[in-house]
Amino acid sequence: MLAGAARALADGRLVAFPTETVYGLGARADNDAAVAAIFAAKGRPADHPLIVHVASLAHAAHFAAELPGVAQRLMTALWPGPLTLIVPRARQVAAAAAGGHTSIGLRCPVHPVARALLAEAAHLGVPGVAAPSANRFGRISPTLAAHVLAEFGDALLVLDGGPCEVGIESAIVDCTQRRPALLRPGSLTRAQIEEAAGEPLRSRDERSARAPGTLEAHYAPRATLRLMSREALVVALQVLGPAAAGVAVYSQIPAETLGVQGRSKPRHKLMPGNAAAAGHELFAALRELDTLGVSLIWVEQPPDTPEWEGVRDRLQRAAAA
Ligand code: TXA
Ligand code: MG
Repeated sequence: MLAGAARALADGRLVAFPTETVYGLGARADNDAAVAAIFAAKGRPADHPLIVHVASLAHAAHFAAELPGVAQRLMTALWPGPLTLIVPRARQVAAAAAGGHTSIGLRCPVHPVARALLAEAAHLGVPGVAAPSANRFGRISPTLAAHVLAEFGDALLVLDGGPCEVGIESAIVDCTQRRPALLRPGSLTRAQIEEAAGEPLRSRDERSARAPGTLEAHYAPRATLRLMSREALVVALQVLGPAAAGVAVYSQIPAETLGVQGRSKPRHKLMPGNAAAAGHELFAALRELDTLGVSLIWVEQPPDTPEWEGVRDRLQRAAAA
């Protein structure tokens, strides 16, 4: 299966594969036609850059015009792992994968299936694999092989690595400017990245630092998702009364204490109280709540502490959709 998948990549075909964050939809990054097939399958605008996945630090150098010191420090400390680095792109290399930008996003995943696939493909002459999350544009990222099949149908070659451990996409750090910037929070905390970088990160909150393609609205379930404080959630359910039965609730506050009983009870799923556990199940939980056929998903705002930054970011964007 793995050898066949590596061969398919080498031949310019698409392969979906597990990483520790989410499943990726991959194509060899040095083949613009293969990369174009990713954009077509996802329905993604061609100027939204893809992340190129590499087997090792040495392969990263192939795609980069230079590896700034901060990028080298981050690679050494945190690769392989759920961290993408934006660096200046080598001329004439992987232009389609980079969406035409002069920079390129590089990531060396730690998932054993991804690592084996990248190493095997590298033996066949594939320097790196461009892979966005394996979902249609704007929709919820897949954390199970079954999610990928639900998005693209079973004609696609999908390597099944079971559930993704991390569950939300990699943190992205832009290393092309004088000071590094966190463009997308992930499971690594800001403090962990800053320690490895040896300097503070600029925030994504400075508008200009938002990565191209990281839209305000993303991860859209079919139902309308609203984020609310615990207090607002309890009050809103009381106000709804019997109509609360048409709402799905995802909260850390247990169903018994939501203050709604009997036949007007909303559908409820308990959010883990631990940020890593919540990230691990987040996208599967949103998909599950979305299949209940409700028109509203009400989510309790997770804690405002550093380790929840990645989960808060994904929920805010799902709510903006
Ligand atoms: O965890 C992940 O990063 C997953 C797995 C499959 O590795 N991949 C992923 O890819 O999330 P995708 O395409 O869904 O998100 C990639 C994001 C883009 O939306 C863009 O914001 C940013 O990475 N990006 C990629 N290349 C960039 C570049 N040259 N400059 C700025 N941002 C870039
Ligand atoms: Mg994505």
